[in-house]
Amino acid sequence: MQDVIESICFSEEEISKIVSRLGEKITKDYDGLDPIVIGLLKGCVPFMTDLVRKIDTEITLGYMKVSSYSGTESTGTIKIDGSIPDIKGRHVIIVDDILDTGRTLNAIKNLFKDSGALSVEICVLLDKPEGRKVNITPKYVGGLVPNAFVVGYGLDYNEHYRNLPFIGVLKKEIYS
Ligand code: IMP
Ligand code: MG
Repeated sequence: MQDVIESICFSEEEISKIVSRLGEKITKDYDGLDPIVIGLLKGCVPFMTDLVRKIDTEITLGYMKVSSYSGTESTGTIKIDGSIPDIKGRHVIIVDDILDTGRTLNAIKNLFKDSGALSVEICVLLDKPEGRKVNITPKYVGGLVPNAFVVGYGLDYNEHYRNLPFIGVLKKEIYS
């Protein structure tokens, strides 16, 4: 399966260090606040499960199924499947795999703010700043990636490659 990768952006070891650093920061910032950590399915899964085990204070978990992509193109339309966690009066941390155009996280952040959250912050493993279409600043960022299509550790191309243990740039021949 690894023959679809052009180059590796973050190895397993690098990801592990990044996740520990983010977990420690969240622990310090939210100690005693009992935040609800909400992962956006399915891309958040490996990151979320590793991250929450590096947070050493009381939290609760939530998930939402959100999608915006078809193949390698951002559609700009956000779809929510199923229920939305109850966040009224809570500090919310939204966890996602990558911030690209920013449309998904912007929409979800606004939704939570409008639903009575005390605060809403964003934690992404990756940021692709060149892809940005809306103005949004995540509080927690693991690492930066160039304007290329990356897969692995939760990130997919048409639902595949989420289970790669590292993050790498997908070969163009796979999707063109
Ligand atoms: P945004 O609304 O454009 O910021 O979209 C964010 C979502 O698009 C992420 O949660 C990913 O599911 C998907 N996405 C954006 N860039 C990539 C990429 O390089 N590889 C895989 N998925 C991506
Ligand atoms: Mg995706």
